Amino acid sequence: MRLYYKINTYGCQMNVHESEKIAGLLEGMGYSPCPEGEHADVIVFNTCCIRDTAERRALGNIGVTKAEKKRNPNVVIAVVGCMPQQDGAGEAIRQKYPYVDIVLGTRNISRLPDEIRRVLSSAQRRKSEGGKRYRGIDLQLPPDYLSTDESTPTVRTSYPNAWVNIIYGCNNFCTYCVVPYVRGRELSRSMTNVLDEVKRCVDDGYKEVTLLGQNVNSYGNDLSDGTNFAKLLHEIDKLDGKFRVRFMTSHPKDLTEAVMDEMASSSKICSNLHLPIQSGSDKVLKDMNRRYDRDRYLCLIEALRSRMPDIGITTDIMVGFPTETEEDFLDTMDIVRRVRFSNAFTFIYSPRKGTPAAKMEQIPYAIKQERISRLIKQQNAITKQLSDLYTGGVFEVLCEDVAPKFDNMVCGRTDSGRLVTFEGEPSDIGKFFNVRITASKSASLFGHKEEK
Ligand code: SAH
Ligand code: SF4
Ligand code: F3S
Repeated sequence: MRLYYKINTYGCQMNVHESEKIAGLLEGMGYSPCPEGEHADVIVFNTCCIRDTAERRALGNIGVTKAEKKRNPNVVIAVVGCMPQQDGAGEAIRQKYPYVDIVLGTRNISRLPDEIRRVLSSAQRRKSEGGKRYRGIDLQLPPDYLSTDESTPTVRTSYPNAWVNIIYGCNNFCTYCVVPYVRGRELSRSMTNVLDEVKRCVDDGYKEVTLLGQNVNSYGNDLSDGTNFAKLLHEIDKLDGKFRVRFMTSHPKDLTEAVMDEMASSSKICSNLHLPIQSGSDKVLKDMNRRYDRDRYLCLIEALRSRMPDIGITTDIMVGFPTETEEDFLDTMDIVRRVRFSNAFTFIYSPRKGTPAAKMEQIPYAIKQERISRLIKQQNAITKQLSDLYTGGVFEVLCEDVAPKFDNMVCGRTDSGRLVTFEGEPSDIGKFFNVRITASKSASLFGHKEEK
């Protein structure tokens, strides 16, 4: 009889990639991915707690497994990732969802196989004793990321893209953010290990590598061997083979000239940068502890565009931070018009327990909502104007997937990160095409393959 696993993933790319490692651990134990319509024997929730909505989504779905447990008392349910790593949250999950068998934080994912074995071997005993399955896990253990990275077989699920972690954790403590509390301090992988992994991915046929970190620009700061992000990019660019390199996320305070120079001179690193701005108000940026101001941000944009005129720049923006007045919000609207981002991910500030901003006086939700809709409307118009500029041009596109809503169509991105939908078939995935853009629709472009 085959045993199946299902992983529900919430949150950022870091979590998506960690789920690929969890899949590797589970397949190492003999489990297979659960086919549609079958019941899983192990269900894992890899959670996020960046905003209240992310937490509620995961909690709602964890609640649904109660019925699954009733149907099959032997199903093993595990909650892992950022949510349980918050102060007191592991205990709260245990109390509220007693049918959850395993709770692990971000630091000890490699213990999952042992924990599953423990649950299964105690099942018989529990039956006779009527005891609980759950055992408290020490969420304060030192991180085991690195051993997990170097020794865990990863089941990659995003061909032709491969995620590669370069740095874990965050030292920045932006006053609204929970990440430094749940992911711990910055820890860089060695350059050799990163280069080996990138090489392996390219040898295995991956056509794009996305380097991951909460702040990739501080890569190497903790290594004391002179390694830094620019040097890493330089070495990756020298590797053989045709493949693209992207990375996220870059903190504006740490983006160096050397990194911009590497991007501009490299043949593999895409002209595409995600550079979260959060706010356009100097006062709010200060209260957020972002450690740059609007002038510095605008200088960076100019420095990037003078080196790479066609660069696609995307951002994250938050509205409704406790000290944001209407005037501050208008500063954000203003800087968004000045920069002209190709796309922006916009968020309503959500107070996170234990962070400094959560203790400040909060803005009414209705005001936050009204601000975000104004911002989205303005950004959509900019996105559309910038998309229109692509029409008529020919761009190299890496085919990444079949298009979700159209028959006989595929999609991929330009070097600058623009999504393009064009005619094609599943066998095109992983190939590069020159695509002529014939139409644009907000963030999405449409076109057809050009003969090479
Ligand atoms: N390390 C990345 C961001 C990680 S979180 C960086 O510093 O850029 C991704 C985005 O979520 C952030 O850029 C921010 O815009 C948003 N975010 C973080 N904390 C939030 C909160 N408490 N409420 C709403 N949005 C938040
Ligand atoms: Fe959070 Fe700031 Fe760190 Fe990004 S840099 S993860 S927003 S604390
Ligand atoms: Fe969420 Fe954790 Fe990522 S809180 S955004 S999954 S680092």
